[in-house]
Amino acid sequence: MQTPEKASAPGPELAAAHLRERIGPAPSLALVLGSGFAPVLSHARIQQRFDYSEIPGFPVATITGHAGQLLVAQLGSRPVLILSGRVHYYEGHSLDRVTFAVRTLAALGVRQLVLTNAAGGICPEFAKGDFMVLTDHINFMGANPLRGPVWPGRERFIDLTQAYDLEMSERLFQSGEKAGLKMRRGVYLAVSGPSYETPAEIRAFARLGAAAVGMSTVPETIAARDCGLKVAAVSCITNLAAGRSEGPLSHQEVMDTADLTGRLAGKMLLYFAEAYGSE
Ligand code: HPA
Repeated sequence: MQTPEKASAPGPELAAAHLRERIGPAPSLALVLGSGFAPVLSHARIQQRFDYSEIPGFPVATITGHAGQLLVAQLGSRPVLILSGRVHYYEGHSLDRVTFAVRTLAALGVRQLVLTNAAGGICPEFAKGDFMVLTDHINFMGANPLRGPVWPGRERFIDLTQAYDLEMSERLFQSGEKAGLKMRRGVYLAVSGPSYETPAEIRAFARLGAAAVGMSTVPETIAARDCGLKVAAVSCITNLAAGRSEGPLSHQEVMDTADLTGRLAGKMLLYFAEAYGSE
């Protein structure tokens, strides 16, 4: 059963039907590009482009650095769907809206999803510019995208024991190393934002077992797992988390680091698509 709100607005099925008419059968792999991962587009042969604003029901991103286009592309030898830009909970969207695009991908027939993001490094060994493949997450957003009526055909309670697919995650890690990135593994803790954390919060999150902190990805992972997709995710450690280095945090620092690492991050995704597609 759907809520009246879900029933009256165009749902992911409708968005998927709109896209299916225009693109035909969808690739099985999709990528969501967070801050700093757009340079992968320089390796992509883009076949079709859809502004989020032209897809029925798609939420439109507002923040700088998140363009808002769905791309049908070839990455190396692998056909992919790319979501260039995402909407965040802190923009004021409900988690239904934040996860709309992922549910659309699932309705289109996507089976594997790679999520990328920018995050603050909590683990003392992490340096700015490192990349972390997510082994697990802590949902500290105070909300869950599955709250409310069960989505048609889905279950009420879903298992997240292995939210991030081991094989995909390993491939992502290896692809990052091949691209020349300093790769790490760890637990990502998601906050709602948009304020950055206090040093006391970061000390607390470290004690909870978090290696990095960010404001996205977790709702998308939960919705994707609800839809039965395999998920892997990677964070660009754009800054040391609050209190882990001298001085204040800024969005500018996040964007500057993301710019510096973007070229290699793009290569990582290219290598991943090629390696993962070849089996
Ligand atoms: N905290 C939360 N989100 C972030 C950070 C951070 O330090 N860096 C990039 N996204």
